[in-house]
Amino acid sequence: MSKLPNLFKNNREWAASVNAIDPGFFEKLSSQQAPEYLWIGCSDSRVPANQIVGLLPGEVFVHRNVANMVVHSDFNCLSVLQYAVEVLQVKHVLVVGHYDCGGVRAAYHNSDNGMIDNWLRNIKDVQFTHRAELMGLATDQQRIDRLVELNVRSQVAHVCQTAIVQKAWGRGQSLTVHGWVYSLLDGLLKDLECTVDSQEGLEPEYRIDC
Ligand code: CO
Repeated sequence: MSKLPNLFKNNREWAASVNAIDPGFFEKLSSQQAPEYLWIGCSDSRVPANQIVGLLPGEVFVHRNVANMVVHSDFNCLSVLQYAVEVLQVKHVLVVGHYDCGGVRAAYHNSDNGMIDNWLRNIKDVQFTHRAELMGLATDQQRIDRLVELNVRSQVAHVCQTAIVQKAWGRGQSLTVHGWVYSLLDGLLKDLECTVDSQEGLEPEYRIDC
């Protein structure tokens, strides 16, 4: 059975290079983590959180899944969010989608993909909600790119709708939720400017008394 020696070699070289630049880096980091950011992004191998925003180990807490979803019943994502907000006290939640997302493309089309369609159904609902706008665009590619943006906006709203985030605001904790999209073509991020930093940014129906 292969033990993937190339990856262990890479790892030793990486650790040595970090230590060469900052001796004691790992010892310092091992005693605490205090990231300011929670990244909620897509699992796509081309969208690695730390590299894209130039952050070192210890600087960003990361949750990734297919199509950067925040589903109200997903205890995995909600556990990450709770720990990041309540224990690590991150200042910013970054919901980061990307153009050419395979998950969004699969949701957009009507083919049968098996079990994952249940996960992607949330994006289908976003597509349905915004069908008039999407049908006004000329090509499937344009509609999928727009759906990527609309999905990020929807997931930003889902983050804000959680009791975790609303209670943080209620305590007076500084917490800002951002929606960004990354382009695989040029490596650049775009701010969708749907930032929310208080309960005022939520529709009244979603506000929790806290
Ligand atoms: Co993706």
